[in-house]
Amino acid sequence: MNQHYTRTLVTTALPYANGPVHLGHLAGVYLPADIYVRFKRLLGEDIIHIGGSDEHGVPITITADKEGISPQDVVDRYHRMNLEAFTKCGISFNCYGRTSSELHFQTAQEFFREIDAKDIFVKKKERHFFDPETNRFLSDRYVTGTCPICNYPEANGDQCEQCGTHLSPLELIEPRSKLSNEVPELRETLHWYFPLGRFQEKLENYVRGHDTDWRTNVLNYTRTWLKQGLNDRAITRDLHWGIPVPVDNDEAMGKVLYVWFDAVLGYISFTREWAEKQGEPELWRQYWQSPDCRVIHFIGKDNVVFHTLMFPAIIMAWNEGRKEGVYSLADNVPASEFMNFEGRKFSKSRNYAVYLGEFLEKFPADTLRYSIAMNYPENKDSDFSWSDFQNRTNGELADTLGNFIKRSVDFTNAKFSGEIPYACTEEDWLSLGIDWEDSFRKLEKAYEGFHFREAASLTMQIARSANRFLTDSEPWKAIKTDPDAAARTMSLSVNLCYTLAIVGYPVIPHTSNRIYAMLGFSETLDDALKKGDVSWGMAKSPQLEKGHRLSARSEILFRKIEDEDIAPELEKIEGLLAEIEKKEKENTGDEIHFKPDISFDDFLKVDLRVATVVACEKVKKADKLLKLQLEVGSENRQVLAGIAQSFTPDSIIGKNVVLVANLAERKIRGELSQGMILAVEGNDGRMNLVEVDGTGINGKMVQ
Ligand code: 2FM
Ligand code: ZN
Repeated sequence: MNQHYTRTLVTTALPYANGPVHLGHLAGVYLPADIYVRFKRLLGEDIIHIGGSDEHGVPITITADKEGISPQDVVDRYHRMNLEAFTKCGISFNCYGRTSSELHFQTAQEFFREIDAKDIFVKKKERHFFDPETNRFLSDRYVTGTCPICNYPEANGDQCEQCGTHLSPLELIEPRSKLSNEVPELRETLHWYFPLGRFQEKLENYVRGHDTDWRTNVLNYTRTWLKQGLNDRAITRDLHWGIPVPVDNDEAMGKVLYVWFDAVLGYISFTREWAEKQGEPELWRQYWQSPDCRVIHFIGKDNVVFHTLMFPAIIMAWNEGRKEGVYSLADNVPASEFMNFEGRKFSKSRNYAVYLGEFLEKFPADTLRYSIAMNYPENKDSDFSWSDFQNRTNGELADTLGNFIKRSVDFTNAKFSGEIPYACTEEDWLSLGIDWEDSFRKLEKAYEGFHFREAASLTMQIARSANRFLTDSEPWKAIKTDPDAAARTMSLSVNLCYTLAIVGYPVIPHTSNRIYAMLGFSETLDDALKKGDVSWGMAKSPQLEKGHRLSARSEILFRKIEDEDIAPELEKIEGLLAEIEKKEKENTGDEIHFKPDISFDDFLKVDLRVATVVACEKVKKADKLLKLQLEVGSENRQVLAGIAQSFTPDSIIGKNVVLVANLAERKIRGELSQGMILAVEGNDGRMNLVEVDGTGINGKMVQ
């Protein structure tokens, strides 16, 4: 952060409204953003949190097709479901919009028109798959076929689920339409491209300006793209679901804006919606179009370049030549790594996930918020496990924090008629054995630097110190021998409860509100904060004066989680894991499913030859592919193989491999591939080449 800002705009990635959000989403994006926003609100800063549903894109139409309902039904269902879950979890959005809203259509189309009017877009005619049966162009995900890299027969047009290679539908072997299962035909179609390369230099300067304040993962992803050189990106699609391309001629018929062009603009349209709801329709400009406002995008690592390159380039295109209505670029993009679940990646397609809404039906929001904050995947992937959740809830929240608050309030109620019996001095406060200055400096630094795990842990350290102070002071004994000492202990303890209510608020806001009520305040902490009656600074010294009255009612803040509470969850995972393992075994061959028999003549049709690798290099922008030059007898062949993650190019030069020499040649990633080499995937996911020993065998038939 290089400037002095007076306002902050926080945005969170818009989840697709085609399924419920899971704990992985919460951990990477929404909880950290909410923690940050709540901390800033405590500081009294002007900050808004804008999020909402991404309601376009092929995943939504696919869900609709699968369920036989309309895309609108899909997004209505999941928008409602996700908003409800977020609300229950205490994610305090200022606006949770929808990209299907009219204002969003207007905003996205306005951006398109502006950039189009400046003649920045490039129009290209290209051939895409078309399904004559359903009369529709097929976007990548609507085409399936055999993966040219690993031969998986159900690869998607954009990516092979088995080997992970990013594909184009034209690379699939025997492509089929997912709509009709028919062979699609290639038809010419026109698309608008955003020339990212035109902004290369400006983007480089922008990213360079954040060399020291952006996270390493964000800089690395972004720099890799910049280094490879930015290309044109199609920003329109032949689809029936989305925002129509706002061009008034036949060229644009049946075309919509690409979901990523439209989604990022949701941040802007939802801020406009928020401003309208405030009764100040122009207020959004103070956040988007003012150098006084700091823009921060909270996202997961899979969305980095969309936020560090594409969205900034769209904004640069809009800003070009303008003196007014100039938008700001993000000052920071704190992208998280992934939080796994019981040691494995969350997977929606395999249903290997814990959904937020379902979780909150069983366990309170703050137990989850705390556990996840303590596992925030800041620099590396982290893991959520039921046992960790149980241990943290029982040991830290219940035994430490909850126990301290309840003992403090109950004892003061029982022995001092619920009134603070003693006026705490600054000296008393400093004698508690807590280095307040250091603790607050560290806490503030942790929040400002987006180190939320550290912030949560420092907060719990204060609770631990408070609990220890109460236990060590033994007021239950002192009350009989030295009532003044007991009075002092209880006054300090209750003031510590007040401090904990405030410092805990970013991470466990529901609990803070409950503590605040137990301390005798009739309004909620949320309301007190809005009115400016409480602030972060007030946590730094004792605020409750002698005679202040507590509520007569105390409550158990955290119920312990028993083994039987999580037993059904563990059982469920076991079932899911068993299923996944079974599928993996099927794929790895432990349980072999042989292909249908072929005749000997069929087998003889395959020309297998010994080939020697004479040169090899990586394929640009394809992290799985190596380009091999092979010598086969007197011939030379070029073959692309999906083995780049198992071998460095140098390590396979000189090897004798087996080449399927009469496989029809095809283009992969724009490069010619003349055959295929044989390889086996190991259980660790690494590829092993089928090699042939011997000399004088180059070019010989393998039989
Ligand atoms: O990855 C996703 O779930 C996208 N829907 C994120 C969009 S973020 C932003 F552009 F809105
Ligand atoms: Zn594959």
